[in-house]
Amino acid sequence: MNFKPVQILSIGKSVPETIITNDDLTKILDTSDEWISTRTGIKQRHIASGDENSTTFGVNAAKDALNKSGLNGEEIDLIVVATSNPYNIYPSTGCAIQDAIGAKNAIAFDITVACTGMLYALEIGRHFINSGKYKNVLLVATDTNSKFLDWTDRASCVLFGDGAGAMILTEAKDGVDDIVALNVNADGSKGAFITMNLVGENCPLVEPAVLGQHKIAMVGKEVYKFVVQTMPESIMKCLEDAKMEPKDIDYLVPHQANLRIIEGLQNRLEFTNDQVIVDIDKYGNTSAASVPIALADALETGKIKTPSTAILCAFGAGMAWGSAVVRLREGLK
Ligand code: ACO
Repeated sequence: MNFKPVQILSIGKSVPETIITNDDLTKILDTSDEWISTRTGIKQRHIASGDENSTTFGVNAAKDALNKSGLNGEEIDLIVVATSNPYNIYPSTGCAIQDAIGAKNAIAFDITVACTGMLYALEIGRHFINSGKYKNVLLVATDTNSKFLDWTDRASCVLFGDGAGAMILTEAKDGVDDIVALNVNADGSKGAFITMNLVGENCPLVEPAVLGQHKIAMVGKEVYKFVVQTMPESIMKCLEDAKMEPKDIDYLVPHQANLRIIEGLQNRLEFTNDQVIVDIDKYGNTSAASVPIALADALETGKIKTPSTAILCAFGAGMAWGSAVVRLREGLK
């Protein structure tokens, strides 16, 4: 088998129009802008309204990436959608997006890895290109966390926002692989740190099951301790695999879960503020969509200049986490 390198062709995003500020939340919770912004860095989040759902934003982000890529829907061979709160379990969000963008030649499926979904999707997508099986791959990460939050739990509901990001990969004709290194990890023994149950009802002829709370629950302190240990290790391992050092990297595009976690990574890498992409103040934690939204935003606003190199990193329920060192080619949008 001839190894086929990967080019990152385009990045897309879509977020709900409705914005809920920290001050808005004080109308329904005993909280304050001061507590939320000093502990997390979040000032506001975009929230789905009416019939908007994960498919809505996933389709829009996919269309945005497709428009920027110069490809048409029929040229896409594979669609991988990372989502932890799809509108339907089936048909999959991948199939809904396939239909909406006219990708009639693509296979499509969903994966569930919470906030690390886009990095897992990238791992899957790049191997399908590397092997020569597929040429053009669409990755979408979409989550509408707001529908599954306990809006009476001030410790968790203030943290999340909704939205979607997308990335199109293609076979690199010039032999240069944009995925310089990538590692993803999982530790199911820490599963209780962040949970969202989907417990159905048993057949009426048998003993009933204890019904789950179909809401996001998080032991924030344990997540924090776990992440400040594992995330820097993951990034350093990824740099080692890439045979690079922090000074060889232009940007850090981290999962936007907590500004203090991001600042810890910044210090470890000895990066300046200009090198670290932060949009948690605008969007909160958009789960799997967090990294691609941050990347799309930074390319759009010129905060990221190309050509350049970047570390992408994410962590979340599972526990699952991962890092990638990627090349962002000249003119990437
Ligand atoms: N407003 C006001 N007070 C609050 C709020 C709020 N929104 N939330 C909690 N408090 C109170 C608590 O009740 C507590 O009060 P007490 O001392 O009287 O009991 C106090 O503030 C401190 O609460 P802690 O939970 O100890 O606050 P902490 O400093 O640990 O910050 C936080 C909480 C922000 C959640 C932090 O632990 C964190 O960021 N953890 C990591 C979360 C994360 O990264 N998750 C990512 C994955 S998400 C996924 O995968 C789906």
